[in-house]
Amino acid sequence: MVRPVATAGPRVNSGRYGRPRAQRRPTSTTGDEFPTGRRGLTVSAGARYSHPVATRSASFAHRHLVGIADLDAAAIGVILDLADRHQAIAAEPVKKLATLRGKTVINLFFENSTRTRTSFEIAAKRLSADAVNISPSQSSAAKGETLLDTAKNLDAMGPDVVVVRHAMGGAPHLLARTLRCAVVNAGDGQHEHPTQALLDAATMRRHKGQLAGLEVAIVGDLAHSRVARSNLLCLTKLGARVRLCAPWTLLPPGLTELGGDLTRERSRITTRLEDALDGADVVMMLRVQHERTAGEAPRFANPREFSRTYGLSARTLAYAKPDAIVMHPGPINRGVELAPDVADSGRAVILEQVSWGVAVRMAVLELLTGSAEA
Ligand code: MLT
Repeated sequence: MVRPVATAGPRVNSGRYGRPRAQRRPTSTTGDEFPTGRRGLTVSAGARYSHPVATRSASFAHRHLVGIADLDAAAIGVILDLADRHQAIAAEPVKKLATLRGKTVINLFFENSTRTRTSFEIAAKRLSADAVNISPSQSSAAKGETLLDTAKNLDAMGPDVVVVRHAMGGAPHLLARTLRCAVVNAGDGQHEHPTQALLDAATMRRHKGQLAGLEVAIVGDLAHSRVARSNLLCLTKLGARVRLCAPWTLLPPGLTELGGDLTRERSRITTRLEDALDGADVVMMLRVQHERTAGEAPRFANPREFSRTYGLSARTLAYAKPDAIVMHPGPINRGVELAPDVADSGRAVILEQVSWGVAVRMAVLELLTGSAEA
């Protein structure tokens, strides 16, 4: 069911729903009690977060989130605006809303994950959903069951959302066509990772105000990166320009066709790091995904050579704008794509990205279950 998305209320002297703070009921101290009256009013989201939120009354007409390719700029904006409102909850003593009370979110992860799986679990729990985690070693896939059979069995238990990560590109799309519940793509092979691109956009918006006109360099193993693909789609839809940089051996075929004319106008490819970084507002570094090329001929001489040519160091970062931020979806390979002193510097917003991940996933879960508060 599609429900209208909240119009952001005034940010000063009012809480999440625009009600003056003085009139609020006391917040829950245990996290198990919920105030009566309006659902989930347990925190003063927005109180400590100063980024301006656009007033918006758009709706979100999607049952699933399988890729950025399916979203237009307005739908992305709805998610980001709602995430803005959820970001402040991390600073509250009681990090709990009741908007997904009684709902069940299943995290079905067939590939390793630290950040994404934990982030979805925390997001679901902060909204009071019941969160269930399933990994391949626990699932009947280990006994020969197909992905679809596993998913149908889970669906028969009546979850509201299945969050799926799978090595096969298109796996979430297959589930979305079959299951009754909402499906969220948490990374499908080398295809898409939509919530990563959304949390990256939220982080950029926080630092740069808006994405339109930003120059974003994405550097590293583009051939295997679902993060690069989702970011390219998301950033160009929001009006940013993207420079893609990798050695020829780590550039995927057909990259220039991604997203059609819009993307061709707004993206360019280079194999020279300094060229990609020159005047960039945002530098996004990507890990070399060795696990996807096991058994193949090496794509570059050795990690030291890669680091010297494509690694971000204090020297190469100097090509970007003085206020450029450094991003990375994680996990970082320190000393390979990113020098440790840059990773640990004030320019790096990598842990902020992680924190936005929870807020963005809360927004996505609420929107897909029709639970977003007006
Ligand atoms: C992913 O799941 O794609 C990660 O966030 C990026 C990586 O694994 O390098």
